[in-house]
Amino acid sequence: MTDFVHDIWYFGALASDIPKRGRSAGLHRVIIAGEPICIGRREDGSVFAMRDICPHRAAPFSAGCLTAGGVQCPYHGWVFDTQDGRCTEIPALTQDSAVAPEKIRVRTFPVAQTGQILWIWFSADKRFSGEPPFPPPLFPLVETRPVIDDGVRLNCHVDHAVIGLMDPAHGPYVHKQWWWRSQASMHEKAKAFEPRERGFAMAAHSPSSNSAAYKLLGGKPVTEITFQLPGIRTEHIRVGDKTVLSFTAVTPEDATHTRIRQLFFTDHGLFKALSPVLAFGAKAFLRQDGDMVDLQAQGLRFDPNLMLIEDADTQAKWYHQLKKNWAKAQQTGKPFVNPVKARTLRWRS
Ligand code: FES
Ligand SMILES: [Fe+2]
Repeated sequence: MTDFVHDIWYFGALASDIPKRGRSAGLHRVIIAGEPICIGRREDGSVFAMRDICPHRAAPFSAGCLTAGGVQCPYHGWVFDTQDGRCTEIPALTQDSAVAPEKIRVRTFPVAQTGQILWIWFSADKRFSGEPPFPPPLFPLVETRPVIDDGVRLNCHVDHAVIGLMDPAHGPYVHKQWWWRSQASMHEKAKAFEPRERGFAMAAHSPSSNSAAYKLLGGKPVTEITFQLPGIRTEHIRVGDKTVLSFTAVTPEDATHTRIRQLFFTDHGLFKALSPVLAFGAKAFLRQDGDMVDLQAQGLRFDPNLMLIEDADTQAKWYHQLKKNWAKAQQTGKPFVNPVKARTLRWRS
């Protein structure tokens, strides 16, 4: 079982991922929950998404091009409408052919753009078309260009990637660089959590005194960390009237590969100026997590039992419950019940 979240908006791409020039201009390939998807931009600037597998003989549309009639497959030139996914042209057919191209269809996905972020509605029903029941999430500053844009492809199931991201106990071991924190600086912490839309938040607080990187921002930073299904984590740091938004999208590709995209948006002058340097720090973090995932895979291939213990692993438990309740709501048609209750979690890190 791949066990992915359905009937929800997934992070698809950044608007700037879709090139305007060059070969396959306007087309971009992503893989979400076992489906390759071609995200494209029409002449008029509007965005579409369709399954990136040509129904003829499987060539990816993302390697093709855009024509007036739609997306043209690079292999035999079949053209598909970007709105409804119907085939509009099969160039090899003769005048008297009995084949009706419009009966051939490709799956299309609803797309929405909030600021620079393109979201894809991923439905359990492959034939779903129309309006998704709720809009994609909106975050501050996402209308600006990110000052840091990084990513990594992890060799693990999305659940391990998400849990690894929200796990507070690995920091002093996996991320023990001098500018962040060390085992020696470990101390007991108590953080207030509360339920949020499709997830939960570590309520606004002053960041840990052992996080050197926050000191750069000056003033008294206040940070709020949120998580929501399917795998969107944000850290919203405020210093006076300035904001830094760290946005992380964790997206399953298949059962053993997960894509992480890490973006920083800000209107904080110093953070902006230092972003080339800070990007190195962010990259170090992602690499360290990736290395740990590869180590963990050495154990996971033997399918061992795993443990989630005490408050340090409570967010992981919430994640599993959120997923379960979400799936249940889709199956029964009843409203989704957020399993998270407001409480304080305590751990040492
Ligand atoms: S594989 Fe796409 S047109 Fe043949
Ligand atoms: Fe980490």
